[in-house]
Amino acid sequence: MEPLSPLDEAGIARAVLAAQRAFSNAQTLDELKEARLVHTGDNAPITQANMRIKGLEKSERPVAGKLMGRARKDIQVALTAATERIEAEVEARMLVEETVDVTLPVTRTPSGARHPLPALMEDISDLFIGMGWQVAEGPELEHEWFNFDSLNFGPDHPARQMQDTFYVDGVAHAGSEADVETQPGLVLRTHTSPVQSHALLERGVPLYIVCPGKVFRTDALDATHTPVFHQIEGLAVDKGLTMEHLKGTLDHFAQQLFGEQARTRLRPSYFPFTEPSAEMDLWFPQKKGGPGWIEWGGCGMVNPEVLRNAGIDPEEYTGFAFGMGIERTLMLRNAIADMRDMVEGDIRFSQQFGTTGRGN
Ligand code: DAH
Repeated sequence: MEPLSPLDEAGIARAVLAAQRAFSNAQTLDELKEARLVHTGDNAPITQANMRIKGLEKSERPVAGKLMGRARKDIQVALTAATERIEAEVEARMLVEETVDVTLPVTRTPSGARHPLPALMEDISDLFIGMGWQVAEGPELEHEWFNFDSLNFGPDHPARQMQDTFYVDGVAHAGSEADVETQPGLVLRTHTSPVQSHALLERGVPLYIVCPGKVFRTDALDATHTPVFHQIEGLAVDKGLTMEHLKGTLDHFAQQLFGEQARTRLRPSYFPFTEPSAEMDLWFPQKKGGPGWIEWGGCGMVNPEVLRNAGIDPEEYTGFAFGMGIERTLMLRNAIADMRDMVEGDIRFSQQFGTTGRGN
């Protein structure tokens, strides 16, 4: 084919037209790139003609330059238009292909939430672990001896009824009725204090433990009672422990849970397993109804009898102990009015606490 002359107006127009057609026929950016190479690349007729301007007579050059300039501009305009068209088509296709039907029904897997009670028990345990204490656990089905006797409750002590104990029958073995084994003296533990005796016997002294766990009393479920609830017990036995250590520990505990300003005060009371004994009140600024004192738990210096029952010499060792309800603690901390919310198992209750408890 004859090389295109930069003065061949009709030939140039045909080359331009060919480029314009090729560009508008291109369906993809790849096809367009190919067409661009054919019509504007080094070997394209237009490019070659452009290079030939130099070889023309000087007088012919302006005409050729003008023709070629227009041709190249027309080709460029067509290329830009084709690029924009293809890009718009790609985007439009993408929008169609990637459409999400937000009205389609989906299978939702509920993510669940931790119950705030175990979360709070862990938080409390953690803060004592931070002070070098250990966590101790004991059985929920407990021997009456551990639940009462080891803790210095006399055999006819009214507290045995006062605590509204669930007494548990013997275990029926598979087989005949006659095989029912009577095991007197089993109770559902009414408090976490028996773990004190287990730990003293098993771990010895010095001993610094907290005992979180489930306890049982024959109460009917209402806004402030539940037959199954949780307590946390603290016990420290060492040489030279005094009530001052007890008070300092309780204040620190209160501040960790209820804020810097929280504090505790002790009021004389009676528990068989402590002497002296005290009711412990908590003061904290966010108390429902305004800052003030509210009863939080019991405490005292470990009764020498309890130490003796575990084979520990009370002349050598002294101890302090405290115990409080976890439900009550959570109700105070989070201004929960009705205990039933904690036992009904509605996930929306737990979700308000996040999944890990304090401070989330
Ligand atoms: N066990 C007691 C209760 O259930 C609470 C308690 C009081 C525990 C005084 C203690 C304590 O360790 O020292 O009511």
